[in-house]
Amino acid sequence: MVSILPTSSATGACRATAPSNIALIKYWGKSDASLNWPANDSLSMTLSRAHTVTTAKKSQGMAAHRIAFGTSSDTAIPARDNGKAQQYLEWLRTEVRTFGPAEGALDILTNNSFPSSCGIASSASGFAALTLAAVGAWTGAKNMDQLKALGISTAHLSAWARRGSGSACRSIDGGFVRWTRGNSPEQQSAGTIFCDDHWQLADLIVMIDRSAKKVSSTEGHARTWTSPLMKMRMSGLSERMKHVLEAIESRDLERLGTLIETEATEMHAVMMTAIQRTDYFGTPTINFISWLRNRRAAGNIEAWFTLDAGANPHLLCHPQHVAHLREQIIKNFPDYKILEDQTGGGAKLESLEEKSDGH
Ligand code: DP6
Repeated sequence: MVSILPTSSATGACRATAPSNIALIKYWGKSDASLNWPANDSLSMTLSRAHTVTTAKKSQGMAAHRIAFGTSSDTAIPARDNGKAQQYLEWLRTEVRTFGPAEGALDILTNNSFPSSCGIASSASGFAALTLAAVGAWTGAKNMDQLKALGISTAHLSAWARRGSGSACRSIDGGFVRWTRGNSPEQQSAGTIFCDDHWQLADLIVMIDRSAKKVSSTEGHARTWTSPLMKMRMSGLSERMKHVLEAIESRDLERLGTLIETEATEMHAVMMTAIQRTDYFGTPTINFISWLRNRRAAGNIEAWFTLDAGANPHLLCHPQHVAHLREQIIKNFPDYKILEDQTGGGAKLESLEEKSDGH
């Protein structure tokens, strides 16, 4: 077995696995950009297969944290532009110190289970896994229960991960996760409202365009306020959230699907009407969505789309309809790769100490 430890002599090494999530009600626009405090409540479905695995260990004699991408220290690629992660880890360390000592620079190795630029937010699972791995390495906790015994709850982890990337706060807990804005940054919180076994939905991610997006989400959040549609969007979101929650509670996919398509379309309409007009997708995505809607109207397909800040739609459907949907897509769009996912659970932490010399 290939070692995924940062080095073979790792001590206190731990491994965090954090899921990605797909937003059904989008976090789009910030009330405070420096704190990633959102303008509105958002809600996501945790994914089961798309995740980030991050290992961390304390390393003596290193001035700065070392971050590399890969599954093994032998083949890992050092992160070049990692200033944001370095800064985040230093901020995180001061937070962790309120629970006990958190000394030493960290040796970190991280890997996504999914290809980059495929319509899955890597920053969500990435910052959630980085947070959990770093906290595990500094505290010596071997699992989530040991963290809890130290006073560090999933609510702490989620609030910390949010500072790295907003959507990461929805990648600590699993199932259907609501991120509540609260009346101040201190009051915001994210947590499971329906577990993954409440409702298993399939998510087919259709890879229409694999190139990296030209406008980052962070930049998109800032631009959104210049759209004349933003005020209208903000005024209707709490009503939409109420309906989405009811649809999930009653497991009504047609109702949920209709709501999430309106939600995604509205988010993109806001971007297209911002002063710096921002189109996250082009004709191929529009054609695909038209095809989906036509087939659905004809009673041939039961699937609904959502779109994050990119060109690759996520199609939600019942698990028993995946094979038919996949077949229809392949027949009509043979060039598009499909990633299949489904509702999943939350982040995990495990110790690698015992395994460090045996593998
Ligand atoms: C469209 O969490 O990536 O995926 O907080 O600036 O890192 P930062 O932004 P990010 O924004 C995600 C935007 C979205 C919608 C969502 O996930 O809710």
